[in-house]
Amino acid sequence: MINIALPKGRLGEKVYGLFVKAGYEFPGMLDNNRKLVFENEALNMRMFWVKPFDVPVYVERGTADIGVAGKDILLERAPDVYELLDIQAGKCKMAIAAKNDFHDNPQKILRVATEFPNIAQNYYARLGREIDIIALRGSLELAPVLGLSDVIVDIVETGTTLRENNLSVIRFIADLSARLIANKSAYKFKTEAIDEIMRRINCD
Ligand code: PRP
Repeated sequence: MINIALPKGRLGEKVYGLFVKAGYEFPGMLDNNRKLVFENEALNMRMFWVKPFDVPVYVERGTADIGVAGKDILLERAPDVYELLDIQAGKCKMAIAAKNDFHDNPQKILRVATEFPNIAQNYYARLGREIDIIALRGSLELAPVLGLSDVIVDIVETGTTLRENNLSVIRFIADLSARLIANKSAYKFKTEAIDEIMRRINCD
């Protein structure tokens, strides 16, 4: 049996579509109810919806053999898993942004609002810049607008949210997209089955 963790939400539904195209269908997966676990007995596979941020936890601990997680979440949590494939869905960037008229004073501690404290910390540590992390959950753009922070470290897709709040990108930190990840020991013992899934997902 192969267990697969997919991120619940828009990206997960898109990725599930790729699995269906590759021949892996789990009846009921897209039904609008609260069921979370789906089995395909013929394929001997099980698929479940997991909060996006938690996918690496299920995979690292082996509850899921494989899973799909955004590169943002992988950079933030740094799980001990194999990153097998860039699925090329959900492409966006991790960026630092600030108000259009922001002028940095390198002598001052920079106030950074983010949902990704590790990514922000690592980035500024490399520059030797001291920062004050302000951990938030969503709607980060509010923080610099209202003066809670100097900058944000956040995901930018179209740039619309920044533009509409008079913010702009100062620097891009990383390219992001959905990745297929695998539990290390599951990959060792189920290499063929997992490689087959990877191959079929990859050539749609
Ligand atoms: C993400 C991100 C930005 C927005 C960027 O938020 O945090 O706010 O999308 O997209 P854009 O560049 O196309 O405008 P999301 O919609 O996931 O909600 P959140 O603010 O609750 O994290």
